[in-house]
Order: sequence, then structure tokens, then C-alpha cells
Amino acid sequence: MMEQVNKYADGYFGNEDEHLQHILKTIEDHGMRNISVSNATGKWLTLLATLKQSKKALEIGALGGYSGLCIARGLAEGGTLLSLELEPEYAKLAKENLMRAGYGEVVDYRIGDALTSLKQLKEDQETFDFFLIDADKERYKHYLDACVDIAEDGAVIMMDNVLVLGGVADETLKDTLPEHLQERTRIMREYNEYVSQHPHLFSALLPIGDGLICSIVKK
Ligand SMILES: C[S@@+](CC[C@H](N)C(=O)[O-])C[C@H]1O[C@@H](n2cnc3c(N)ncnc32)[C@H](O)[C@@H]1O
Repeated sequence: MMEQVNKYADGYFGNEDEHLQHILKTIEDHGMRNISVSNATGKWLTLLATLKQSKKALEIGALGGYSGLCIARGLAEGGTLLSLELEPEYAKLAKENLMRAGYGEVVDYRIGDALTSLKQLKEDQETFDFFLIDADKERYKHYLDACVDIAEDGAVIMMDNVLVLGGVADETLKDTLPEHLQERTRIMREYNEYVSQHPHLFSALLPIGDGLICSIVKK
């Protein structure tokens, strides 16, 4: 069902420009798995970063730069994006792709484990007004806590892949998923409940792509 809905929506709103298409091609050319955010999710990132007039954004998980470009496109004049990525080659590719798209000056990459980087950012008293959480799903809860810690009041936090292809909502579908996604379904069910009850977040779940939660931080 999610696949059909996404296909329908992308049929009307899924126009992907040359730079986004190029990013997907470079991911393929490098033999990397394309686990970029979906086309529609990318659109929402640009839309919400624009509405937020984000000045200082942070993403967890760069891959080839697809979500990074979508966020960068929504930044306010003078805005910056810090991207946290474990793999140096992925950060290098993402940087090349953002430079090619004209956003090389706006984005910076911090290589290494994201939780360590987030801890350092807190120690350095850095704050941000827009976040995307899109790395290893097992640690989403820790990423979210760390992001809330360094978020400005009113910051936006987006979290991708929260529906696990719909498995979180449909037990029969869940049972047909590969084993690692069944485990992810369990993790995401717990996570979604955690976000929904978080005392400092006002949140909604957008059933697009693989499911995207959008929260506003209320400090
Ligand atoms: C789903 S992909 C990100 C896709 C990207 N947000 C996009 O849409 O273009 C997840 C990324 O998180 C990175 N990652 C995984 N574990 C990480 C960690 N502990 N710290 C930082 N990055 C990590 C992976 O190397 C991968 O590039």
C-alpha cells in the first residue's frame, strides 16, 4: 500500500532535478546501496527547512548527499548544514555532490560516530534549529535525546524510516519482511511510542517514503 501511495504522489510531485538524479547515479557508480531518503521525503525536507528559515541545520547520515542537498536548498540566507557521517568515503562523495550543486560553502562534514560528534557539539555549546535523523536505526532514541539537548527552542527534528515499509502497523506484513527488518519493526514501534510521549516534542507522522516523523522542540 505504501508503495502505491508513494508511486502515485511521485507521479505528480516527484520531479527530481539533474543534481538529485546525479547524486543517485554516483551512489550506484560507487557500488553503494541507495538508502537515500525518498523523493517525497526530500521534498518535505526542503519545504520544512524553508518554512523554518533554518540558519543552522544538522543531519545524521550523509550517504551521497541527497538529503543534504534537500536541506541545503531550504536554508535561509547565510544558513549552514553540518552533516555527521561514519564513513569517510561517503562524506567525500556527499561533499563532491553538494559542491557540484553549488552548496559546497554551506555544508561541512564531521566524520566518525555520530553519537561521539553529538557529545562534542554539546560540550562546545553548539545549537541547531533543524535536524534530520537518518543513520543506524538501533540508536535513534539516543540520537533523538542528543538532538533535543542541542536544539534551540522551536527547532524542527525530522526522523526517517519510522514505518519500516508499513511493518510497524501491519503484523501480517511484518511477518513477510526479511529478518533484519522484522527486528527493525520492533525497534521502531518502541521508538515511535517514545517520540509520541516525549515531553519536549510536538510531533506528527507523515506516511510518505518509509515514514517520516516531524517534531517541534518545546523547551
Ligand atoms: C540511510 S543512510 C543516510 C541517507 C542520507 N540521509 C540521504 O538521504 O541522502 C545512513 C547513513 O548513516 C551512516 N551511519 C551509520 N551509522 C552511523 C554512525 N554511527 N554515525 C554516523 N553515521 C552513521 C551510514 O554510513 C549511511 O551513510
